[in-house]
Amino acid sequence: MNKMMVIGSISTDFVVTTDKRPEVGETITGTGFETTFGGKGANQAVASARLGADVYMVGTVGSDIFGKELLLNLTTNKIHTDYVEPVTYEPSGSAHITIADGDNSIVYIPGANNEIDTSRIQSLKEAIQFAQMVVVQNELPQEVVDEIIELCFESNVKVIYNPAPAREVQQSILEKATYFTPNESEFHQLFPDMTISEGLAKYPNQLILTMGSKGVYYHDGESEKQIPSYKVQPVDTTGAGDTFNGAFAVAISSGMSMDESIRFGNLAASLSIQKFGAQGGMPSLAEMKESEHFEKTWNIK
Ligand code: RIB
Ligand code: NA
Repeated sequence: MNKMMVIGSISTDFVVTTDKRPEVGETITGTGFETTFGGKGANQAVASARLGADVYMVGTVGSDIFGKELLLNLTTNKIHTDYVEPVTYEPSGSAHITIADGDNSIVYIPGANNEIDTSRIQSLKEAIQFAQMVVVQNELPQEVVDEIIELCFESNVKVIYNPAPAREVQQSILEKATYFTPNESEFHQLFPDMTISEGLAKYPNQLILTMGSKGVYYHDGESEKQIPSYKVQPVDTTGAGDTFNGAFAVAISSGMSMDESIRFGNLAASLSIQKFGAQGGMPSLAEMKESEHFEKTWNIK
């Protein structure tokens, strides 16, 4: 079994569905409201755990009712929570999502998620050695993200960096990540002066660019490659990127090739977006195997 450590946000998603977005100062009547489990960190942890990885989550929740539910959801998904700390002085992280016309917009309130600091990361120095893969995103303070990547680099532990949501990142940090996985807009934020092809060629086998329905791009050292996505009718695309990252992490650390791992990630993402909620629809390995697109040569450890 693959041991993975996911360091990141754990949040409640408050999801409103509406036919149109309100204008400033306008009140409209929406069509639905649900609370679901989210946070890019927790989402990626759940995606990996459902596919059979042995996942250790590192993060922070508040001492409120949401914090208890968030922890329970992690353990329900068979994720170790020994490294999840509760704090009393901040509410649990939350994301306020509006879905209109099939597109979502999100206001993220870090709350407790921001209470992790670099000394907590330093204290993971030994634990990190046992991980086949570390996974981190941008819903934590940047200095914490930098510290994780530095620590993995020094310790020779593989790390996937999903730079979402977009913000500025030092080039030297990106270079130390084994893989980094921006989407199109995050790519342009990271490399304002580079075209996509230039960026891919500069970071062969390291930059994995997810482009939604246009598929995933990377450069294999010889040429640029595009791995198409699987076409489905989406119900809710929230968490598609998280599902891709979690599934890709499981596949690549199982020794599958880059192309296979990307196809595995794409398939998991395509299944996840057919159900409501970021974690709703994230497939188990058994559900992946039921898909007509599952390839018999895919060998998950
Ligand atoms: O990537 C999707 C996630 O990001 C949501 O679950 C929400 O928590 C947002 O912050
Ligand atoms: Na979903």
